[in-house]
Formats: sequence, structure tokens, C-alpha cells
Amino acid sequence: MSISGEGVFLQMNQARNMLEVRSINSFYGKAHVLRDLSFEAPTGEVIALLGRNGAGKSTTMKSVMQIVRTQSGDVFFKGQSITKLLPHKIAKLGLGYVPEDRRIFTDLTVIENLIVGQQPERIDAVKWTQEMLFDLFPNLAERRNNRGKALSGGEQQMLTIARTLMGNPSFLLLDEPSEGVAPIIVEQMAKVITQLKSEGLTILLSEQNLHFAQLVADRVVIIESGKQKFYGTLQEMNERPEIRNAYLAA
Ligand SMILES: Nc1ncnc2c1ncn2[C@@H]1O[C@H](COP(=O)(O)OP(=O)(O)OP(=O)(O)O)[C@@H](O)[C@H]1O
Ligand SMILES: [Mg+2]
Repeated sequence: MSISGEGVFLQMNQARNMLEVRSINSFYGKAHVLRDLSFEAPTGEVIALLGRNGAGKSTTMKSVMQIVRTQSGDVFFKGQSITKLLPHKIAKLGLGYVPEDRRIFTDLTVIENLIVGQQPERIDAVKWTQEMLFDLFPNLAERRNNRGKALSGGEQQMLTIARTLMGNPSFLLLDEPSEGVAPIIVEQMAKVITQLKSEGLTILLSEQNLHFAQLVADRVVIIESGKQKFYGTLQEMNERPEIRNAYLAA
């Protein structure tokens, strides 16, 4: 089903890879966290960044956004290096980032939170309206006049994603969208991600929940101690249980 009615945005000016991460190194002070990490996000795919607690998933997302400055290596978005840009400039190019700590405005209503996220239309991405987002997240539609603090954890997570979509991104980074969310909401979240993909978005999500990744991912990157241990399709990973057993929680 297409929400915008326009289906997949035809790959105007789109490189085969929406994102390319080339041998990046990131530090917190002296702690060397990402080590020569490389992977790609092919346009229109859902890529799951998998790894245990502390593997470096969130740092990878922050490094793409340059919230954590990369010390070496390069990140390309649609073929353009974004490594030297500031986070707000990177966001303006069409990267929508949903951090692991949900940041909704608890005293504002659902609708007011969406208005805060509003950004100008972009030529290569769906232009989201409140009504389209309420179609995508029916729970939020029922709660549209409730304040953020009245929402459940899962609803707050959905609102964070919806507010980011109000910025009309072409690429979405979702840091552990299923974390701390009830199982029924996890299933809904998986449907939402599949729908966003059908709208033409390319999505990078980080996960510890292998079940969730299995529902949505086309491709996976497994990291441990900030190093890439596996990059391939979901099917390729599933054909190699030894990889899963070595690097992912049971
Ligand atoms: N602000 C920080 N200052 C110092 N070290 C940090 C900071 N944030 C993360 N780290 C360290 O960097 C490493 C990678 O952390 P990161 O948060 O990227 O992992 P993660 O894979 O997202 O883990 P989780 O599944 O717990 O979210 C860990 O060793 C962590 O302790
Ligand atoms: Mg994390």
C-alpha cells in the first residue's frame, strides 16, 4: 500500500548506494570505538546494524551524522562526502536521525510535536502530512490531542519517528526502534518500516532484537568492538549460523 499515492520515488539522481561508510575511525576521548568500519546502504533497502551491547551501533549512527566526529575515513551520502559537515547540515541533506533516547516534547500534544518537526519539502522524498502520518501510526491518530507524557513507551517511540518523518527525509537512521517496546508494538513497528521502504526510503536501523531484524532487513552489518565482522544479505547471514552465534546475543 502506498501512503503518498506516488509509490516508490523513482531513483532520480540516486546513486546505487544512498550511503557509503568507508573505513571510519571514531573515538570518545582516547577510547578508540569504531575501527576502520565500512559498509554500504543500497538505495531503497533496509540495512540492520547488529551487535551486542556496547558493540558500537549507536556510535556508528552518530558518526554518520557527525554528532561524533570521525577522525579518519569518509562517509558519502548520494555520492557526496558529508564527513566535514556539521550535523544540522547533514540533516538538511535528507538524513533523518532517531536517537536511542526518545526526545519528544512531553508537555506538547502529539500534533504539536509533529509541527515542531516540520521542514520544507524535498524534491527526492515523500512530503509527509499529519494525516499521512496518522494513517501510518493509527495509535497516534487516537492520541493526537494528548500530551507526550500521557503516551506509552511504544507510542512515544512512534511519535519520535513520525516527527522525524515531518522533516521529509530520504534516508532514515533508527537507533533500536524496538527497544523497550511491547511485543505487539514491535510487530506494528516492523510493518511501519516495511511501509516506509515501499515509499522509497532507505533505512539504517540498529538492533539487538534479531527477530525484529529478520522481519524487516534486506541486508545486515554485524559489528563487534567497533569492527565489521559481517556484511551481506539477511539470507547470507541466515545461511551462516556460526556468525550469528559468535556475534549476536542468543
Ligand atoms: N559518550 C561516551 N563516552 C565514552 N564512551 C562511550 C560513550 N558512548 C559510548 N561509549 C562507549 O563506546 C562503545 C560503543 O558504544 P555504543 O553506544 O556505540 O554501543 P551500542 O552498540 O549502541 O550499544 P547498546 O546496544 O548498548 O546501545 C562502548 O564501549 C561504550 O561504553
Ligand atoms: Mg546503542
